[in-house]
Amino acid sequence: MCGIVGYVGAKQAVPVLLQGLYKLEYRGYDSAGVALLEQGALRVIKTRGRIKNLEELTRQQGPFSATCGIGHTRWATHGEPSDINAHPHVSGNGRVALVHNGIIENYLELREMLKKAGFTIQTQTDSEVVAHLFQMHYRGDVVQALRETVKHLRGSYALGVITADAPDQLVCTRRDNPLIIGVGEGENMIASDIPAILALTKRYIVLSDNQIARITAGGVEVTDELGTPVEPRVETVTWDVAAAEKGGYEHFMMKEIFEQPKAVRDTIAPRLRDGLPALEEEGLSDELFRNVRNIHITACGSALHAGLVGKQVIERLARVPVMAQVASEFRYCDPIIGPEDLCIVISQSGETADTLAALREAKRKGAKVIAIVNVVSSSAAREADGVLYTWAGPEIAVATTKAYSAQLAALYLIAVRAGMARGTLSRQQALDICAHIAGLPRQIEETLACRAQMQHLASLYANRHSVFFIGRGTDHTACQEASLKLKEISYVHSEAYAAGELKHGTISLIEPGTLVVALACEPALVEKTVSNIKAVKARGASVILVTNDDALREDPEICDHLVRVPRCPAVLSPSLSIVPMQLLAYYVSVMRGCDVDKPRNLAKSVTVE
Ligand code: AGP
Repeated sequence: MCGIVGYVGAKQAVPVLLQGLYKLEYRGYDSAGVALLEQGALRVIKTRGRIKNLEELTRQQGPFSATCGIGHTRWATHGEPSDINAHPHVSGNGRVALVHNGIIENYLELREMLKKAGFTIQTQTDSEVVAHLFQMHYRGDVVQALRETVKHLRGSYALGVITADAPDQLVCTRRDNPLIIGVGEGENMIASDIPAILALTKRYIVLSDNQIARITAGGVEVTDELGTPVEPRVETVTWDVAAAEKGGYEHFMMKEIFEQPKAVRDTIAPRLRDGLPALEEEGLSDELFRNVRNIHITACGSALHAGLVGKQVIERLARVPVMAQVASEFRYCDPIIGPEDLCIVISQSGETADTLAALREAKRKGAKVIAIVNVVSSSAAREADGVLYTWAGPEIAVATTKAYSAQLAALYLIAVRAGMARGTLSRQQALDICAHIAGLPRQIEETLACRAQMQHLASLYANRHSVFFIGRGTDHTACQEASLKLKEISYVHSEAYAAGELKHGTISLIEPGTLVVALACEPALVEKTVSNIKAVKARGASVILVTNDDALREDPEICDHLVRVPRCPAVLSPSLSIVPMQLLAYYVSVMRGCDVDKPRNLAKSVTVE
């Protein structure tokens, strides 16, 4: 959701900024722009639409010799996607250019104040006011000007600023929005995320909330909100550029689907000692599990769907009540949570605004908070009391696949450890289930062999307008993720239903030709689900049945197509049944001509409420 880049060094800034912006495309955007310090003056080039339009404009209006500049991809929140609303925004005197991610909540108030002070507001955005404020406060020191500027702001932001009055430097800050500084040799960058800096350097600094950095080709100076110098910690990216490239696949999503065995293996293996989960170092002690009153899981989208599986698995194995709640609702429902409770937040990016707000609410009420996070050093990772990283590597496609699978793996380990600590699982039972967990990467590999079958099924059903996913128990939670995958990348309406709930209303929507995808991988519930399938078949639905039950055959009374997945304990089955669902969504999206990796209206990292 919006992307910021900035560069200062010896290279020409335009290609570096464009390359950085391309790497942030996955975040979702509808316009793009750059601002350059070109021979003592600001040049701003911006446009609605894709970065390639911007690249074309820079070609037409160039060449540019600037070696310092900022760039932005905008995901519209305030004001339509348009050339004028695109970032960078320029101050009234034309000497300050600014890029902003986040939302300035009091921008209307600030607009009125600025109008009274004689400024003309050019755009519908909340961001433009920040450029004017910076101009108002600039007295020859960019850091001081930014420090004074942010005192006026309510809301969330990552900001990058250049000014013609202080060439060859950029200044940046953040609050509740990600921003990193890439540290090179004689050149430095700022960016919203690591892939944007990788062509230049693997070394980076994560700016903390309210810190301000002044960046030149030769160095980075960081100060806190009071102006006290801070010694920044330089970290090194552990994965290489290739991990964030398509590597021969047509889309990142397909590459990431096929990376799932590795993501799950890398998440599980380092945490198994003598065949049992060891989570103490990550903040999850046996004592904590023994004494916990309730566990609250909160997250958004697919991360919440992983949490819903986690709820079932933890409750079944550890017999402790687990509430799983949408993060955007969590803080507004005055949750009953306190020091006796454990809160688990789940997030691929670690920057989702609603999830961070829920994390803070849980901490404020005294609960211990553990984050299951994929992006190292992200806000959730830093703010939680403990972190369990999902070692899925960079996930670029907006639709998550491998991070979701890695989240499931982390939750299984928590469930087993909690069960052992609470005495609801014997050591032998824990060893047995862990052996199955350790075997999941190989079983996911086996499951991926259904690729051709799912491509064929997609070709049969890609034109359907509405699809229902049904299942019971963990199959139902897997259905929720399957349905989200399909709708977000193929724009096909779909719903996930507990199979037994259909007859309470939704079955009236089933008519001849409606596609119903049924998941039946919980042995104890297969027969019940089959009865529900028969009810939709009797009303003319076409049924794809995903099952690990060898007794079920492709039988016209039960299903039109049978997709077989490997057998595993019921609580782990979402890890396998989701794979054909991801592939189905992928191929339907391709066949409908959708933008698989960057679906319309969506952002990879949702950093606004
Ligand atoms: C899933 O495919 C999504 N695009 C979305 O639901 C995502 O899972 C959600 O926005 C949460 O993101 P996070 O994991 O980065 O917090």
